[in-house]
Amino acid sequence: MSDSADPVIVFRNITKVYHLLGENVTALLDVSGSVRRGEFIAIMGPSGSGKSTLLNMLGCLDVPDSGEILINGIETTNMSDDELTKLRRDHIGFIFQQFNLIPLLTARENVEYPLLLKTGSADCDDRCLDVLRSVALESHLDHHRPNELSGGQQQRVAIARALVNDPEILLCDEPTGNLDSKTGNAIMELLSRLCTHQNKTVIMVTHDPSLAVYANRTIHIVDGRISGVA
Ligand SMILES: Nc1ncnc2c1ncn2[C@@H]1O[C@H](COP(=O)(O)OP(=O)(O)OP(=O)(O)O)[C@@H](O)[C@H]1O
Ligand SMILES: [Mg+2]
Repeated sequence: MSDSADPVIVFRNITKVYHLLGENVTALLDVSGSVRRGEFIAIMGPSGSGKSTLLNMLGCLDVPDSGEILINGIETTNMSDDELTKLRRDHIGFIFQQFNLIPLLTARENVEYPLLLKTGSADCDDRCLDVLRSVALESHLDHHRPNELSGGQQQRVAIARALVNDPEILLCDEPTGNLDSKTGNAIMELLSRLCTHQNKTVIMVTHDPSLAVYANRTIHIVDGRISGVA
């Protein structure tokens, strides 16, 4: 595949300023870059440097004040809320440090939920079971609620939920931040396999330099600016 000709995300001159209690906080200032299909990118930098802000912009959860973001070559910054919702639903999966599972739903129902929203069909058991197997969640855990699962198991369910609509992009904000290092490494192996075996594009925010070894490239951010890419 000619990767350089196939950027899945391009961001140009992104600036984001938050306004809070009469103060302006410049979270990102004029950042640009691109991500190729199938790449595993780490975003690193000090607390408050703008990592989550950048991830949220790339995932179209929030819009920049200026600059442009193209997903699969399509400019997103002027899209309506409905268009952005559809774009996220079809192309992007999100994985968070706190797992963010719905507490009253079982593991399988958590995975089913985005698929139901997309298809409106209740006939999605096979797909949910496939994707839960693909993250190696033992089948007897399908009916457990999140509080009946370990952190690593909850994160596997969250990854299955992110994968169920078959997005090409996975955005992860400190996905192993609440896990011990052994469980965290198993999650990293899983994310890494999704890149190499399924050509998913993974962008992961992390504080942990030891996790950057899983990435093809690391974007370093300091004070809202990209200080280096290695
Ligand atoms: N909704 C918001 N309103 C106001 N300021 C915000 C908001 N979100 C983030 N900020 C500010 O923007 C800056 C960047 O925040 P961001 O969450 O992107 O940092 P981060 O690099 O992800 O930090 P951490 O490693 O602690 O998660 C910080 O100064 C933060 O206080
Ligand atoms: Mg953050």
